[in-house]
Amino acid sequence: MRTALVAGNWKMNGDSGFISELMTGLKTDVPASGVEVLVCPPSVYLSQVKVQTEGSVIALGAQNVSEQKNGAFTGEISLSMLQDLGCEYVILGHSERRSIYAETDELVAQKFIATVETGLKPILCVGETLAEREADQTLEVVGRQIRAVVEAAGIEAFADAVIAYEPVWAIGTGKTATPEQAQEVHAAIREMIAQSDAGTAAKIRILYGGSVNAGNAAELFANEDVDGGLVGGASLKANDFVAICQAAGA
Ligand code: PGA
Repeated sequence: MRTALVAGNWKMNGDSGFISELMTGLKTDVPASGVEVLVCPPSVYLSQVKVQTEGSVIALGAQNVSEQKNGAFTGEISLSMLQDLGCEYVILGHSERRSIYAETDELVAQKFIATVETGLKPILCVGETLAEREADQTLEVVGRQIRAVVEAAGIEAFADAVIAYEPVWAIGTGKTATPEQAQEVHAAIREMIAQSDAGTAAKIRILYGGSVNAGNAAELFANEDVDGGLVGGASLKANDFVAICQAAGA
């Protein structure tokens, strides 16, 4: 039995006042059981959010991390720093990192390995573009993205990992994959993991991301292989995010 996870990816949004208000709303209203709730603020606000999560069930995660341990890497943030601030999870290979900041499968795999070695839990994002879906390459693309990490890190590294399937054409567009489209890809991802280890495949949580909102969350999460969501825009509205968490916990 997999416990659902709902992760809020705030991206590069908010300021201390906005975040304080959002956290106040979430803290009192997110379900206390049945679903694991995670927020991933911009790194500069991790400490603030950590203080605000105290006494609540909300876990803390980062949106990105360096693959390097420490040293002369201007502007980068290390895993030990994230750990020091109380982060439990790190989002890796988000499509915005892959497309805007040119992160390759190889770099994502290095970050994944470093994350697991440090003792944090990776949320590995995968997904196809609209052109790739239209060319019927969805499973090929997602398979390549997952294999790159499995081959570099080993399947054992997936013991506490989470995978997020985020079709690029659904991110921030208001276009959501249908529950059937999501289930088809999620089942295929679980099968890919099963080819390396059936136990890990049965246990690993596969989140759906891409325009999840309060209205569509329940039907997406009702699918057998959809174990929660990675939520962007709707995670910035306390009521909507709470409703999505409730849908996952129901
Ligand atoms: P969205 O973003 O919910 O705004 O589509 C999801 C994500 O990018 O993780």
